[in-house]
Amino acid sequence: MAGEGYIPKLYGRRQGKPLKPRQMRLMAELLPKVAAPDPAEGAIDLRALFPGADAFELEIGFGGGEHLAYQAARRPKSGFIGAEPFINGVAKLLVLIEENGLENIRVHFGDARPLIEALPDAALSSIYVLHPDPWPKKRHFKRRMISPWFFAEAARLLASGGRLRVASDIPDYVRWTLMHARKATDFEWTAQRASDWKTAPEDWPATRYEKKARGEGRSPAYLEFRRK
Ligand SMILES: C[S@@+](CC[C@H](N)C(=O)[O-])C[C@H]1O[C@@H](n2cnc3c(N)ncnc32)[C@H](O)[C@@H]1O
Repeated sequence: MAGEGYIPKLYGRRQGKPLKPRQMRLMAELLPKVAAPDPAEGAIDLRALFPGADAFELEIGFGGGEHLAYQAARRPKSGFIGAEPFINGVAKLLVLIEENGLENIRVHFGDARPLIEALPDAALSSIYVLHPDPWPKKRHFKRRMISPWFFAEAARLLASGGRLRVASDIPDYVRWTLMHARKATDFEWTAQRASDWKTAPEDWPATRYEKKARGEGRSPAYLEFRRK
């Protein structure tokens, strides 16, 4: 995460604290069972990955996985793919998968971008990008996840009426997201009044990062866009 021993370029996988024994066991034993297919091997067949699922959802940069695990427990008939390049986050999600017996999550351990490109058109009902790394310096803006490329891909991936949720506690990143959303004519921002984006909807739990931001006096914006 930005500011916490962050490695600026995302070309490899990242590690912070050493994993606990349980996490190491889950990385060795559970991850191979729940890993999403390698996007380098071609287009991903979501129906084959989640037999019997009635919807598919994607979370990008799931951090410790608490939001992903919450949504997956709430909608057992939905197939969830989570992407995260930080090994400690992946290991935390695996603990949640085991503790809660979640069978509808597949994990992409790495950069979300190749995964996004390997997913089929109009296949997803939701995409979540919660507190993406802010990359505050102008020369690093091109590294931001929210971008014209991202909105074009999100428009391709979401079925009509699908939703894109983005959270950020960084005012400049909120403005940046809204600026790109305005140009992305396939989306409409669902907020009617300030309280719609200042207050989290009931099914949008606070992530670990969000709790930390609030503790430091920063309030997030909860942005929801609908695919037209
Ligand atoms: C500020 S943290 C927020 C984590 C989590 N969403 C939360 O709200 O607690 C940003 C996360 O995005 C992940 N990330 C950064 N670049 C990414 C990428 N290209 N693909 C997937 N995840 C990425 C980071 O590893 C980190 O876990």
